[in-house]
Amino acid sequence: MIMLNELPIDKRLERKMARISIAPMIDITDRHFRYFCRLLTKKSVLYTEMITSSAIVHGDRNKLLDFDPFEKPIALQIAGCDKKEIAEAVKIAEEWDYDEINLNVGCPSDRVSGNQMGAALMAYPEAVAEIIQAMKNETNKPITVKHRIGIDGTNVLPDSLNKVVFDKYEDLEYFVKVLSQAGVEHFIIHARIAILEGLSPKENREIPPLRYEEVYKIKQAFPRLFIEINGGIKTIEAIREHLHYVDGVMLGRAAYENPFLLTKVDQFADGGKVNNISRREIIEGLIKYVERFGDDRKTGQQALKNVIGLFHNKRGSRLWRQIITPPWAENESVKYILKKALSVLPEEVLDERN
Ligand SMILES: Cc1cc2nc3c(=O)[nH]c(=O)nc-3n(C[C@H](O)[C@H](O)[C@H](O)COP(=O)(O)O)c2cc1C
Repeated sequence: MIMLNELPIDKRLERKMARISIAPMIDITDRHFRYFCRLLTKKSVLYTEMITSSAIVHGDRNKLLDFDPFEKPIALQIAGCDKKEIAEAVKIAEEWDYDEINLNVGCPSDRVSGNQMGAALMAYPEAVAEIIQAMKNETNKPITVKHRIGIDGTNVLPDSLNKVVFDKYEDLEYFVKVLSQAGVEHFIIHARIAILEGLSPKENREIPPLRYEEVYKIKQAFPRLFIEINGGIKTIEAIREHLHYVDGVMLGRAAYENPFLLTKVDQFADGGKVNNISRREIIEGLIKYVERFGDDRKTGQQALKNVIGLFHNKRGSRLWRQIITPPWAENESVKYILKKALSVLPEEVLDERN
């Protein structure tokens, strides 16, 4: 059998063997949102929110790690800097049968980078390689790394380190080389640097310019590695364009701003077709899902928190938002709210399909 990364990119595109994934996003990609995504796309890989190794080791494991088998394939994203603790977290997660374990080397948040986790780790490729080794000792699952094309850590990382600015293409190539020697075969690269001081995480997703060419260059430099690109990708046309240069595309904000887009992404993956599902059927799927929570309105509300974009740019979008956003009347169940939406939203938008 031909391995995926032995095929030239054009052939993979032709054979529809690319990978589309939905990015890890704190406060968004909880299990409810992932279930919703799985109604929309059957093939994409879904990522958890970033979970710290410390939370997994010391926190409520079931709450943090439980998922519904319907969500598969699913990847667990871990953030941390202590290799022993990360290895322990990987070992714990083995019980949950995730399809992939991903190490976060891209988060610019102070809470994370201030602890030398997330994006700050990019300045220490050898230390990350040791973390990878420790993770590999605990699992046979694929270990992937999500990172930026570089960091500007001036004034943040310890002075003793002369490499606080790590934002040249050569730095990126060195990072990928060291990690690939440690056995990482799959990299997800957010095509911007992270500026570790002076920008909020949100600004760090918008201000540093996108440098897609550097990600393409990594694929050329390491043709046998699986390279997935991320950052600012919002349309089917853009996905198709990137797939001429890399093996996969990770979608972040587009997945909650315009989730119906996800019904079209299976055409790129696993010999796939588009998912021929309508908004009506998606809402019916959600009705079945929220029935599990019975009278627990709090959980039901949580389940609808990130489905607001389903009518993005369509007639009925404001009405949908108003109906599903609490507060609701005392006697209205979550199921009732969704049924009400089905009865008042425009039929032609409810029944649109690919
Ligand atoms: C609300 C929010 C939360 C995020 N949380 C995480 C996270 O937990 N782990 C991570 O690696 N990236 C996180 N990111 C970054 C995304 O995974 C992605 O790299 C970034 O949004 C760029 O992709 P996009 O332009 O397609 O949104 C988050 C992004 C957003 C918008």
